[in-house]
Amino acid sequence: MLVTTISKNGTTDIITLGWAMPTSFQLPMATISIGHSRYSHELLMEVPEFVLCFPSVQQKDAVIYCGTHSGRQHDKFKETGLMQIPSRYIRPPIIAESVAAFECRVTGTLITGDHTIFAGEILTAS
Ligand SMILES: Cc1cc2nc3c(=O)[nH]c(=O)nc-3n(C[C@H](O)[C@H](O)[C@H](O)COP(=O)(O)O)c2cc1C
Repeated sequence: MLVTTISKNGTTDIITLGWAMPTSFQLPMATISIGHSRYSHELLMEVPEFVLCFPSVQQKDAVIYCGTHSGRQHDKFKETGLMQIPSRYIRPPIIAESVAAFECRVTGTLITGDHTIFAGEILTAS
């Protein structure tokens, strides 16, 4: 999966995630597990919203890039060429090339060792 986040001042980031899962039908919810050292973790603590994006095989190079470079040093939208489109309900953008995208607002967190699980209510899907 690719997950987008945003800072209070509007800096966006993309992280590659293997550790993500649906967790509820009613409300519809999804969880993601993010390492404490990730820039995405810092951004989620600032603005607790994320878009869970499903890439297609055509985005495989971008998936590896976003999973091996940090948004602290890199503008991953610029460097991968992935395009942004505005989300309907939250501030982080949707990755336009996604097969599917879920806009999520964080409703709870759980620290699990060196990662935090962020549970998000899915506000809409596209
Ligand atoms: C295939 C793959 C799966 C990954 N899964 C996770 C994950 O589930 N959780 C996590 O915190 N990092 C995961 N990573 C590592 C982050 O994507 C990587 O540390 C990234 O550079 C962090 O970016 P950021 O500092 O901009 O947030 C994964 C990387 C790859 C390549």
